[in-house]
Amino acid sequence: MQISSLIPETKSIRLSFKGTVGLVPTMGYLHEGHLSLVQKAKRECDHVVATIFVNPTQFGANEDLSKYPRDFKRDSDLLESLGVDLLWSPTAEIMYPPGYQTWVEVEALTKGLEGAMRPGHFRGVATVVAKLFNVIQPDKAYFGQKDAQQAAVIRRMVKDLNFPLEVIVCPTVREADGLAMSSRNVYLSAEERAAATVLYRALSAAKDLYEAGERNAEKLRERMKGVLSSEPLAQMQYVSCADYDSLEELDVVIGKTLLSMAVFFGKTRLIDNFVLG
Ligand code: PAJ
Repeated sequence: MQISSLIPETKSIRLSFKGTVGLVPTMGYLHEGHLSLVQKAKRECDHVVATIFVNPTQFGANEDLSKYPRDFKRDSDLLESLGVDLLWSPTAEIMYPPGYQTWVEVEALTKGLEGAMRPGHFRGVATVVAKLFNVIQPDKAYFGQKDAQQAAVIRRMVKDLNFPLEVIVCPTVREADGLAMSSRNVYLSAEERAAATVLYRALSAAKDLYEAGERNAEKLRERMKGVLSSEPLAQMQYVSCADYDSLEELDVVIGKTLLSMAVFFGKTRLIDNFVLG
C-alpha cells in the first residue's frame, strides 16, 4: 500500500493504476462499517484508494473537531491488510491553502434533518468530497447508508455537477445489539453505551408498525418518540419520517421512505436510520 499526502504525488500514483478505481472517503478511526465499504470496493474495482482526512469545514464551532478520535497507524495497518492500493491522507493546509474560497452548496436537500441541526455541515462535506473526486477521479465512490442525508447530498451533487462516477451506498453495519457502528461510540460511558441501543429499538418499533400496515407518518414518528422517551439517558433531538429522495417530511408513507433520528447521550450525538419500502 502506498501512502501519500501531497496532491501532485497522489495524482501521479493514481495515474499509474490501470483499470477501474474505487474511492472510499473516511475521517479515520476505522471500524467495521468503514471496512465494509473498502471490502465492497475491493470486490468491484481493480484498485482501491482510501482517504483519511478529518475535514475541518464540516465541523461546527461547538463540535468535536479537536477531539475527533484519531489512530493513523492502526487505520493504515487495517487498510493495508484489506489490500488498499493507496491511502491518501492530506493535511488541512493541503486541502484548504491560504486564499481558499470556493464551496459546493447542495440546496434543498441540506435544509432539514442533519442540515438544520448542523449549519454549514453539508457545505463542508460536499466541498471536500468534490475535491477528493477531482484529485482521485474514481470510477466508483463508496458511502454508508448510516449517513443517509450525506449519501443523498453526494448522489445529488454527482448528478448536478456531472461527475463521471457511480455512487455506491452500502448498508449500515451494526454491533450485535443493533447499535450502528460509529467513530463517536467511543465517547459513550458504559451506561450510555447500554442505553444507546434505544435508537435501533425505536427504529425497529416504527418498522414493525409500518409492516403491520400503518401508513400515517405522524404515527410512525410518535412510535419512535415513545420508545426514545422510555430511555432516561436519551435526549431526542429529532425524529423524522421523510421521502427517501427529497428528504421532505411525509404525511402519508407511499414510496421509499427514510426513518431517521438524532439523539444525545450526554454530550455525544448519535444518528441512525432505516429505509422502508
Ligand atoms: P466517516 O464518518 O469517517 O465515514 C466514512 C464513511 O463510512 C461514510 O460514507 C459513512 O457513511 C460510512 N459509515 C460510517 N459508519 C458506518 C456504518 N456503521 N456502516 C456503514 N457505513 C458506515 O462520513 C464521513 O466520514 C465524512 O463526512 C466524509 C464523507 C469522509 C467527508 O469528510
